[in-house]
Amino acid sequence: MHKRPTEAHIDLRALEHNYLELRGVAPETALMAVVKANAYGHGAVEVAKRLEALGCPFFGVAIPEEGAELRGAGITGPIAVLGGIFADQAPDIVELGLTPVVFDMTAAKALDRAAKGRGMTLNIHVKVDTGMGRLGIQPADATLFFNELKGLGNLRVESLITHFAESESADKKFSREQLSAFHRTAEAIKNAGADPGSLETANSAALVDFAPSRLDMARPGIMLYGSYPDARLRAKVLLKPVMTLKTRILHLKEVPAGFTVSYSRRFTAKKPSVIATLPIGYADGVPRSLGNTGEALVGGMRAPYAGTVCMDLLMLDVTGIPGVRQGDEAVLIGTQGNETITAEEIAEKAGTISYEIFCRISGRVPRIYTRC
Ligand SMILES: Cc1ncc(COP(=O)(O)O)c(C=O)c1O
Repeated sequence: MHKRPTEAHIDLRALEHNYLELRGVAPETALMAVVKANAYGHGAVEVAKRLEALGCPFFGVAIPEEGAELRGAGITGPIAVLGGIFADQAPDIVELGLTPVVFDMTAAKALDRAAKGRGMTLNIHVKVDTGMGRLGIQPADATLFFNELKGLGNLRVESLITHFAESESADKKFSREQLSAFHRTAEAIKNAGADPGSLETANSAALVDFAPSRLDMARPGIMLYGSYPDARLRAKVLLKPVMTLKTRILHLKEVPAGFTVSYSRRFTAKKPSVIATLPIGYADGVPRSLGNTGEALVGGMRAPYAGTVCMDLLMLDVTGIPGVRQGDEAVLIGTQGNETITAEEIAEKAGTISYEIFCRISGRVPRIYTRC
């Protein structure tokens, strides 16, 4: 079957560039590539394979199922399950050789039992909540937690980790407080005669913009994919966008002034106009909220979305773009000629962050990989 030409092109050369750039930022800090949520929509297996070939020492996923997908694809290196686990997932974690992030004794005991059952020692990462308020033991409970872990002979703490709540902010006051709490916790654990393992705190923004947080390992996600968590960071490291989202014009028509377009008739042509219909909609991941405000690139020029974004289709006002024809390429994220639309630009218009724009691109959109 000939395929609908709506595709996300993933440039693995750009991914490689970004990984090497981030590694260059802090050569002493090992990088855990965060590939959760299908590598932020970019395709976890392909992304992990490319980075593994570059020597990436660790991968981070959110849930065990994502780890299983990577193992099934032949990724053999360490994979941390960042999103926490339920006790009944412990046997699968052990069988798959994943590295769980642990912050409660019930899960720890289940992991210990599962590891014992297989006669092995399981590496775990212990998470401390220094201010994100999401996952982690409270700093005050850390020594008690580590004391209890000592009784679980089949677990080994490989790392102590935490996560920043606002590392992308120019104001690092809260991040500094989190980092101090983290170091105090690590010291307290050591003073209690336990080993917190290696220290790991930084996400992308912290890695690039908050040098004291780099420590033994960092966990960049979004910047691997060439997107900046804050525009300020553009001056710090030169990244290449990895994803281009594009399609082709399915239908083209000339319409008179007063013609209305799409659901609820939110677009009215002010003059005789040319309307292009694209085979992409909110079921593919284009935010419906971009109706009448989004733009796509056609003929190297910006064309505004005309009216409400539909489930499978959206309309562009291509009036004034010379020589537009049915079948012409339309770029929703990426570059065409001298114009670029970034995921950050779309996110701002949609009232969200580029992370969500990438993650929304649905399974209906094939990922096409450029390898070399
Ligand atoms: C625990 C954890 N570490 C690291 C990351 C990567 O963050 P970023 O994509 O901002 O680099 C995430 C992503 O949200 C995360 O949840």
